[in-house]
Amino acid sequence: MKRVARGVVRPPGDKSISHRVLMLASLARGKSELSGLLTGADVKSSARVLRQLGADISRIQESGVRVSGSRLLTPSSRLNCGNSGTTARLMLGILAGQNFSATLTGDASLRRRPMRRVTEPLKQMGADISGLTYASPVASAQVKSALLFAGLTGRVSVTVREPYRSRDHTERLLAYLGFDIHDRDGAIVFEPPIRPSAYPPISLSVPGDISSAAFLVAAAVLADDGELLIENVGVNPTRTGFIVVLERMGAHVERVNLRDEGGEPVADLLVRPAELRRTEVTAAEIPTLVDEVPILAVLASRARGSTVFREVGELRVKESNRLELIAANLRAVGVKAEGRGNDLHVEGTERAPRGMVDTAKDHRLAMAFGVLGTVDGAGVKLSERKSVAISYPDFFRDLKRCFG
Ligand code: S3P
Repeated sequence: MKRVARGVVRPPGDKSISHRVLMLASLARGKSELSGLLTGADVKSSARVLRQLGADISRIQESGVRVSGSRLLTPSSRLNCGNSGTTARLMLGILAGQNFSATLTGDASLRRRPMRRVTEPLKQMGADISGLTYASPVASAQVKSALLFAGLTGRVSVTVREPYRSRDHTERLLAYLGFDIHDRDGAIVFEPPIRPSAYPPISLSVPGDISSAAFLVAAAVLADDGELLIENVGVNPTRTGFIVVLERMGAHVERVNLRDEGGEPVADLLVRPAELRRTEVTAAEIPTLVDEVPILAVLASRARGSTVFREVGELRVKESNRLELIAANLRAVGVKAEGRGNDLHVEGTERAPRGMVDTAKDHRLAMAFGVLGTVDGAGVKLSERKSVAISYPDFFRDLKRCFG
């Protein structure tokens, strides 16, 4: 059956920004008002942990959340971060600057994920009370943000250098709040006030998540006709690698109504179906699209020629082993795909995808293969769909509404 893209859709709030503003609002003095927050399970994990530490946070709703910040208090039990790597890693940074101890835990997936990349530099920071200068071996916004938050709560200066620049939402938020954070020779230098200084409450509207919008963009590109308008999407250049690569593959994503929201660029995206061709995604591009590799691999499976993603070894330690599962699931639906060392190769085909997909309860795998299941003649069965609640609770409803 031919599929037509139609209508207007708003993706949920940006997950990365939602975590960060909740944390910063919990540390501010006074009542913050936040709107557009993601209501997904990961953000609720951050809220739960912050409440355990004494923050007063109203119910997590898109329409608005009130946060009364205060000094953080010793928690009476373990802090459960659920499935959320961002909660665990950023909270490690915040907690490192406090004078009490706390224990973090999470679900089976989170407990398998690497934390030493954060605890190691935090230990170095503890040994050197004058601050930290750190060259991170990974381009990870979670590592960088944990160190910046430790600098904030521990009141020491922090300099971070990354192999490639990762998403800069934390830097933008700190600058928006009036802190001294700047670039020096490609490194990020944060100089928090040395004496205790409370900063005022935050009033901010969180833009839609480009990582969630990416699935809708992809479904529109793979449709046979029509067009889709995706409103209120954050288009921070450290996050738009997906659009850059997709345009190289032959699609066009028009940005309309470009504006600024709380220090972040925001636009509406207009997308139409397109014929796709192969590409090579470079190592330098990966941090700008790290969460979009599953959906880009799905798009590559519908493109002419063979696409390669360079240096995607980090995907092994995401919510699931994405490097292995993307390739295995593409093969399961009849696509030639494989990991070779740290690279991922996907060969495009015109044959309709058919078969059973194991999402491993990974939200982005469920959504990526859910999109593949919308192409003409497809018969893609997902092992589960519930995991989308992590970052995009209404995903399948929106997909049906715009392409049903
Ligand atoms: C995130 C950073 C990325 C990304 C994750 C969210 C963040 O992780 O994959 O979904 O909010 O800082 P890494 O820092 O591990 O690359």
